[in-house]
Amino acid sequence: MTDMYLFTLNSKPTTHIRSFVCRSGRSKIRQRNTQTLYQQSNAITGLFNFQHVFKQEQPIVLDIGFGMGDTLLQSAIENIQINYLGIEMHRPGIERILNQIEQNKLSNIMIIYGDAVQLCTQHIVAKTLAGVQLFFPDPWPKTRHHKRRLIQLPFINTLQRLVQFGGTLQLVTDWQPYAQHIRQVFVQSPHWTPLKEQAYPISKFAKKAQLTGLMIHNFCFTNSSY
Ligand SMILES: C[S@@+](CC[C@H](N)C(=O)[O-])C[C@H]1O[C@@H](n2cnc3c(N)ncnc32)[C@H](O)[C@@H]1O
Repeated sequence: MTDMYLFTLNSKPTTHIRSFVCRSGRSKIRQRNTQTLYQQSNAITGLFNFQHVFKQEQPIVLDIGFGMGDTLLQSAIENIQINYLGIEMHRPGIERILNQIEQNKLSNIMIIYGDAVQLCTQHIVAKTLAGVQLFFPDPWPKTRHHKRRLIQLPFINTLQRLVQFGGTLQLVTDWQPYAQHIRQVFVQSPHWTPLKEQAYPISKFAKKAQLTGLMIHNFCFTNSSY
């Protein structure tokens, strides 16, 4: 049986440095293995217009690295006028959110099991996204791992191609050195113009940061180029 909410990428993986590690993890919910997950998904080949897979035609927001999916789910429930595309490499998170989508009978959320860089560079049609959100991306604190951080100039340039003029990119992190890195990357891009802060859903990462007194850096940009 095909899972109607789930997509996988049927393209050659790009050769970039990975921003994730594949963890199998333990989860209380019943888990399908990776092969079964692929068999039960809709495989995407080439450029794909996601607008066609949603019940309603409305703005699409891409959530990159949704983890266990709590904030993505909260966003989709609170904003039924938006279609959400969530991408993640962490299988337990995929399993969990698929169950939650079914339980909540949501039609404004679709899930992709795969690498966000591969998805964005090879599969999304230009100017079809109203926004992109990246909440608490992996900070890769060690200097030798900084190249693994998702936010890099080529990647934000790719996102700029996909986001409509006036669309948004929101990034939230509690890791001060990553915030500094984000500033340094965005200052090199003439296309993303800073906006005033926008609200973001409170995840366990946000709660932990608040409890431990870590400052949360909330960056919002708008695409100011056609
Ligand atoms: C620290 S977690 C944050 C989860 C979630 N956004 C939140 O705020 O609760 C970062 C997630 O990004 C995912 N990730 C990192 N690089 C990715 C990539 N290239 N494609 C898809 N997911 C990625 C990781 O698997 C991880 O689950």
